[in-house]
Amino acid sequence: MSIRVGQAGLGEWGKNLVRNFDELADLAWLCDTSEELRERFAGRYPRATLTADFDELLADDELEAVVIATPVPTHHELARRALEAGKHVFVEKPPAMRREEMIELLELARERNLVLMPGHLLLYHPGVQRLKQLVDSGELGEVLCVYGNRQNLGVIRSHENALWSLGVHDLSVILHLVDEEPESVWAHGTSFLTPGVEDVVFCYLRFPSGKVAHMHLSWLDTHKMRRMTVVGSKKMVVFDDMELERKVTIYDKGEEPPGGTYGEWRTRTGDIFSPKVGNDEPLRLECRHFLELTREGSAGSEARQGLVVVRALEQLQTSLEAVLA
Ligand SMILES: NC(=O)c1ccc[n+]([C@@H]2O[C@H](COP(=O)([O-])OP(=O)(O)OC[C@H]3O[C@@H](n4cnc5c(N)ncnc54)[C@H](O)[C@@H]3O)[C@@H](O)[C@H]2O)c1
Repeated sequence: MSIRVGQAGLGEWGKNLVRNFDELADLAWLCDTSEELRERFAGRYPRATLTADFDELLADDELEAVVIATPVPTHHELARRALEAGKHVFVEKPPAMRREEMIELLELARERNLVLMPGHLLLYHPGVQRLKQLVDSGELGEVLCVYGNRQNLGVIRSHENALWSLGVHDLSVILHLVDEEPESVWAHGTSFLTPGVEDVVFCYLRFPSGKVAHMHLSWLDTHKMRRMTVVGSKKMVVFDDMELERKVTIYDKGEEPPGGTYGEWRTRTGDIFSPKVGNDEPLRLECRHFLELTREGSAGSEARQGLVVVRALEQLQTSLEAVLA
């Protein structure tokens, strides 16, 4: 049986979710405050009912799941109302901007036995899943540091800064790979275009095990970079989403302990290898996973992952503001 789904937010990203849920589920409702978008989507998805009123969608007793792809500041409020109405919720990242709000959503979902899944798209990317396997199998040795580059010229946002708009992706991957919460974080950034909205942000995170991570986030850059590097004590690996074929490259490179006459560290370089990585659309895998959880009525670990990411984002934002003060 197809799951009956309703979606709020039919913008630039929302349209991708609509395409997937229309193919994978019974997409019964489409909601957006923009009349122009409602008209456009009514033509493309004639089986769905269009509305500007989120409550009208929630009032459908047969509706099982709600997808939220509206601007970030609206996520918590809409997700809360959907959970209170007894619907499973998929909400774009981040589901809330404060940890208390995220905890409230988590508790609502737990009390009512509902799925709450944040849209951490990259966790469904076959390249990131390969990175996680490499880390967990011990092939890289001990992970020493992880760093992400997410740079481009645009899309320039005027409400959320580069940390909340871009950083949430890399942060979800770093926290998933390291599987620890940071004990201390630093963030520095500058607003060049819109006052108060940082266009370029550098973040540093230190974990209890001694691992460190770094993120360079910017929409004012020469090149589009979507890269995550993991430096292990035995091998190193790069996930580069701009590569068409070699998305993941493993470098058999490392350091060798001091020895010999001078007792100095030496380096070792060996083979470079690119394993095959599936080319399934991460968004399709993500939507399918949400529908599976909904079908099974299983809480999964996704909501908790969302809380860990929101907590780290909040810590980084506090650091960013402290540096600016
Ligand atoms: N996972 C990803 O890779 C990814 C990529 C881009 C954006 N996103 C996320 O998707 C969300 C939407 O981003 P976008 O780029 O599509 O933004 P957008 O501004 O293009 O679209 C948002 C839409 O929501 C509508 N809207 C606003 N408030 C509403 C409400 N209360 N009820 C119904 N509709 C409402 C707006 O009219 C607009 O059409 C954001 O949370 C963003 O962070 C995720």
